[in-house]
Amino acid sequence: MDNYGPESFGALNAEEYDDLHDPGTTDQAVDLLFGLFGASDVLELAIGTGRIALPLARRGVRISGIEGSPLMVDGLRAKPGGTDIPVVIGDMADGRSFEPFEAPFDHAFLVFNTLFNLTSQEAQVRCFGHTAARLRPGGLFVIETFVPDHARLAETQRVETKRLDIEQVWLEAAVHDPIAQTLDMQRIRITKDGTRLVPLPMRYAFPAEIDLMAQLAGLRLRDRWGGWDKQALTATSGMHISVYEKL
Ligand SMILES: C[S@@+](CC[C@H](N)C(=O)[O-])C[C@H]1O[C@@H](n2cnc3c(N)ncnc32)[C@H](O)[C@@H]1O
Repeated sequence: MDNYGPESFGALNAEEYDDLHDPGTTDQAVDLLFGLFGASDVLELAIGTGRIALPLARRGVRISGIEGSPLMVDGLRAKPGGTDIPVVIGDMADGRSFEPFEAPFDHAFLVFNTLFNLTSQEAQVRCFGHTAARLRPGGLFVIETFVPDHARLAETQRVETKRLDIEQVWLEAAVHDPIAQTLDMQRIRITKDGTRLVPLPMRYAFPAEIDLMAQLAGLRLRDRWGGWDKQALTATSGMHISVYEKL
C-alpha cells in the first residue's frame, strides 16, 4: 500500500488505540512475559502506548522501546511511568533504530501481530536480524501473531461487516496477494457524521516461516504456545506465542 510507513499506524489510530485495540489478554501476557524475563533489560519492538511495557516496568523489568509513531509514544508518555521508559522513534526493521541502545539486551519481544505490520518478508527478516544482534547469548525473543486461516485466505478479496447498528456500519475490505502473503485492508466506518478510512496493510507468515526467520538470525525455537495461558498450539489454534533463544 503506497504512502503507508512506520508512522502511519499511529497517525490513524493513536487517539482511539487504547479504547479500540484491547485484545483482552493483557494481564495474562504480562504474567507470562514477566515469568520469562524477570527483572532484566528488555526491548519491546513497537512499544505503542505501553499496554504491556508499563505493567512490566511496574514489576521491575527495565524496559526500553522502539516505536514508529511519535503519536503512539505521546500516548505512552501521558500515562503514569510513561516518561521513564527510553524509546527510540524509528522503524523496527531499520538497524539505525537499534543503534542508540549501547548495551545489549537480555530479552526482546514483539506482540499483538505487529511483526505483520512489516509488509515484506525482507523487512521481517531484517527485524529478526537486528533484534538478535542486540541480544546476549541465551536471550529470548518472544513473538505473538495470529496463525493465518487457510479458509479465509482462499479468496483474493473480501468485504466483512465488523459493526452495525442504527447509527453506523463498520466494514473491512481486503485485497489478498497469496504470493507476497500480503493483505491490504481498509477499515471503512460509515456514520451519520461521514465516512472514515483506516487503512492497514500487513504481511502474514505461518509459524514455520517465522521459525526460519529466527534461524537465519541465529535463534532457535525454545517454547511455543497457542495462547497466553500456555495452552498447547494445535491445528485449530488461532494464534501462537513463540519463544526464540539466541544461540
Ligand atoms: C498493534 S500496535 C501494538 C502496540 C503495543 N505493542 C501493544 O501490544 O499494544 C502496533 C504498533 O506497531 C507500531 N509500528 C508499526 N510499524 C512499525 C515499524 N515499522 N517500526 C516500529 N513500530 C511500528 C505502530 O505504530 C503501533 O504502535
